[in-house]
Amino acid sequence: MRRSLGVIAAYPCLHWLTPAQAMRVLVTGATGRLGRVAVPRLRDEGFTLRAMSRGPRTGDGVEWVTADLATGAGLAEAVAGVDAVLHLASSPQRRTHDIDVLGTRRLAVAAGHAGVRHLVFVSIVGVDRVPLGYYRHKLAAEQVVAAGPVPWSVLRATQFPEFLEGLLSGASRLGPVIGDRAVLAQPVDPGEVADRLAVLLLAGPSNRVEDFGGPEVLRYDEAARAWLAARRVRRPLLPVRIPGRLGRELRAGGLTTTATPTGARTWADHLADTYGGTAGR
Ligand SMILES: NC(=O)c1ccc[n+]([C@@H]2O[C@H](COP(=O)([O-])OP(=O)(O)OC[C@H]3O[C@@H](n4cnc5c(N)ncnc54)[C@H](OP(=O)(O)O)[C@@H]3O)[C@@H](O)[C@H]2O)c1
Repeated sequence: MRRSLGVIAAYPCLHWLTPAQAMRVLVTGATGRLGRVAVPRLRDEGFTLRAMSRGPRTGDGVEWVTADLATGAGLAEAVAGVDAVLHLASSPQRRTHDIDVLGTRRLAVAAGHAGVRHLVFVSIVGVDRVPLGYYRHKLAAEQVVAAGPVPWSVLRATQFPEFLEGLLSGASRLGPVIGDRAVLAQPVDPGEVADRLAVLLLAGPSNRVEDFGGPEVLRYDEAARAWLAARRVRRPLLPVRIPGRLGRELRAGGLTTTATPTGARTWADHLADTYGGTAGR
């Protein structure tokens, strides 16, 4: 018998749930930012994992399968014999409709044929509010999951700190950190998102569940200053107001949630872990 589940210890009211040891789970997007932390966490909780990638892989103490959401190749084999699918794969930059919307449909249909009992999908806070092309596709993918043949759960999470860092790096390529200082963000630790997903897997199909965000809402300029300080870099901020509805939604908190509980790890925690020092902790 493995040790008792860490996530269940944190949620004592959930002790009646299906034991992780009995559950076989396919993780799509297992090589991504979230997948890389979710796979070892779920494995250590006792889930029997099959991890999916487009390329051949080994390691992490789990079974790997090769499949492509864009073509459907390998999906039938990937879902065969699993109890649940944790769908993390996504392609924000290219062929998003093909992979996120149609690929999610291919996955849901294959899972339905295989008799999978639960499809857990990760989405993003604000997909129904913030007018971005990628978000439109994520919302459509949520609808595909909800209309599909497999009982489902959808969790919307806020941005991962690494994503915010990517934005800040891109915005400072020319020197100053360019951006709309009043945009609000609520970074959430992907490890904590993975723990929420473990609880959802154990709870069974729950449809749309409470959103999950980080512990604090930050303005873009606050996040940028803390990031510069953690990296010991001196750069000015160059304010540029994002126009139109996009700017209005981003400044009004379209990417944030008031849902509780939230994660505990802050932006300062992330910066301290990444760059050393205490970074305002
Ligand atoms: N990043 C954020 O801040 C954030 C916030 C909230 C929610 N989310 C959501 O969380 C999920 C994971 O995000 P992430 O940042 O971890 O993603 P990511 O790092 O961009 O990883 C994307 C994953 O999708 C897989 N993938 C891409 N195209 C594929 C295809 N055609 N067939 C099969 N797999 C394919 C990739 O696997 P291979 O390359 O190995 O094939 C990779 O593992 C996404 O649904 C995202 O929308 C992200």
